[in-house]
Amino acid sequence: MVRKIAILTSGGDAPGMNAAVRVCIRAGLYYGKEMFVVYDGYKGLVDGDIHQVTKDFTADIINRGGTIIRSARLPEFSEEEVQKKALQQLHDYEIDCLIGIGGDGTYKGLRALSRLGFRCIGIPGTIDNDVASSEYTIGFMTALNTICECIDKIKDTSSSHQRCSVIEVMGRHCGDLAIFSGIAEAAEITISYDHQVEEEVLFRKLRRLKTMKKNHAIVIVSENLLDVNELAKRIEKETGFETKAEVLGRLQRGGSPCAFDRILASRLGSRAIELCLEETPETTGRVCGMHNGKVVDYAIEEALEMERDPHKELVGLIDLLQ
Ligand code: F6P
Repeated sequence: MVRKIAILTSGGDAPGMNAAVRVCIRAGLYYGKEMFVVYDGYKGLVDGDIHQVTKDFTADIINRGGTIIRSARLPEFSEEEVQKKALQQLHDYEIDCLIGIGGDGTYKGLRALSRLGFRCIGIPGTIDNDVASSEYTIGFMTALNTICECIDKIKDTSSSHQRCSVIEVMGRHCGDLAIFSGIAEAAEITISYDHQVEEEVLFRKLRRLKTMKKNHAIVIVSENLLDVNELAKRIEKETGFETKAEVLGRLQRGGSPCAFDRILASRLGSRAIELCLEETPETTGRVCGMHNGKVVDYAIEEALEMERDPHKELVGLIDLLQ
């Protein structure tokens, strides 16, 4: 029988992780389980930084950004020797089930532990929205709202000076933050993994806007695709639009989670606890997510093989509206 459950957050932090930690602890306690948190993700697991918590731990955290149990990246966790150290810590603390909140990297760590026979459950938490087994990840909507707030502000100054702004948004190798913000901000051009734009097409469009005396132009670009400073220089040279590059950076990861993320975290966190408690063998290594607005779960092995939704309809909308 599962008696003790531990929770960790891993990879890049995301708004709403605390809300997920909160509901896991509260739901676990509700079912009479002993709840533990692991500080600093897999690093803390290997080091045994594991602490029992009570309901008090969850007070006033639903609205807090970041992750109060902190996060870390531990590439060495791909080594079996390191995984076995973590496993030993879990056995030493008599933990029966581990919940990991994070993205694909976190899921791979959970898969490794579940292959070693340990019961693990994953919850998708990352601003990138790049976890194929969930249509939304915890943190994505908040980051999107933050990006929109920032671009609204950039537009004010950009219009006052009749400038073009090239804005880099995060997403690692996933273009969702760019595609969604491109639509929400009515960007003149959106360049992302699922929507590439040839430079000549970009220049032609901006030259036309310049001739039409448009006050500003917004170009949104997914990170890791191109150098936005260099692109800004080329735009200025080719179109005559005074152009500034802005890298929004890690401010996209901060801030209080929006209501959508708090609710998503609560729904997924409570499902994660149910999965911990279902003691059939196939629940060794599962992840939860959202599909068509419903909470779903998959075997972790299957989840990591899934193809991400390329959001064809939204990409089509970008083409229609640009
Ligand atoms: O995965 C979240 C994310 O913010 C990505 O969008 C970005 O590429 C990466 O993390 C940056 O990570 P770090 O803050 O560790 O440099």
